[in-house]
Amino acid sequence: MSNTTTSLYDRLGRHEGIARITRTLIDNHMANPLVNARYGASDMPKVEQRVIEFFCAGAGGPETYSGKDMLATHKGMNINEQEFVTVVDDAMAALETHNIDPATRSDVLAILWSLKGELIRV
Ligand code: HEM
Repeated sequence: MSNTTTSLYDRLGRHEGIARITRTLIDNHMANPLVNARYGASDMPKVEQRVIEFFCAGAGGPETYSGKDMLATHKGMNINEQEFVTVVDDAMAALETHNIDPATRSDVLAILWSLKGELIRV
């Protein structure tokens, strides 16, 4: 059982835990033929740092996100529903790899799902 009185940031292992989860998330994307070509032209170390910041700040941590907002980041990519679900699935798998409990995984899922309108077919 997760302790829901503890912040999401804490339950994910704070900066270090979120950095480890993000590394696995990016490994999952690179190994996933449904989305890996999307990242072919990107500066992945920079994207990784930005995703860590975004994840930390979104989970209630003190980090500042220095990237563009989700709409501006993904505008013009014409991301489809399958790609969105694939990225969310890769994130859920990364949380499982790091033994994040089901209630905390659900909290992350709700946050990712809430971003759908800023990502799909924008
Ligand atoms: C809820 C889901 C998603 C979240 C929270 C998210 C978040 C982010 C963040 C924080 C960045 C870094 C932005 C920056 O550097 O300023 C990024 C970059 C990127 N995202 Fe997403 N993303 C999501 C879904 C997707 C999907 C479904 C795709 C396509 C399959 C995608 C493709 C990309 C690409 C290609 C970049 C790199 C852009 C560049 O090179 O500057 N993202 N994303």
